[in-house]
Amino acid sequence: MSLKECKEELKKILDEHGRENEALLPCLHAACERCGYLTEETISFLAKELNLPPVEVYSVATFYSMFNLKERGKFIIRICVSLPCSLKGSRKILEAVCEELDIAAGQTTPDKKFTVEAVSCLGACDKAPVMMINEELFGNLTVARAKEIISQYE
Ligand code: FES
Repeated sequence: MSLKECKEELKKILDEHGRENEALLPCLHAACERCGYLTEETISFLAKELNLPPVEVYSVATFYSMFNLKERGKFIIRICVSLPCSLKGSRKILEAVCEELDIAAGQTTPDKKFTVEAVSCLGACDKAPVMMINEELFGNLTVARAKEIISQYE
């Protein structure tokens, strides 16, 4: 979605909320969901529309981990590195996946296809080690199995 289209969407949400401060969180959600991440332009636009200092919008955006301020890939690979998964080798899986995609954890591939993130418990400890690709969960992983799964997305 282009920035122009994104602004149109946000204007609709702002209209619904009467351009009150309560519109900020729904707008930040919508901007991330539809535009992928929050650009400086989006933050400035929302600040102007809501009559707030840009730094206030920025601090709300950075306070919540669900808002992205960096462009992310089409597929978000989340690998759990909490203790139960770590004990079963998730850090080796994370290293192998990063090596395979030639990026570090937290980065996005240059073609914007994959973002790899090391995350806390994904709530499926009984299947440790665990990884998610977007909304799909994969458990009882090995390095080989994780690489095989990712190759299916390539
Ligand atoms: Fe990895 Fe819970 S510790 S899913």
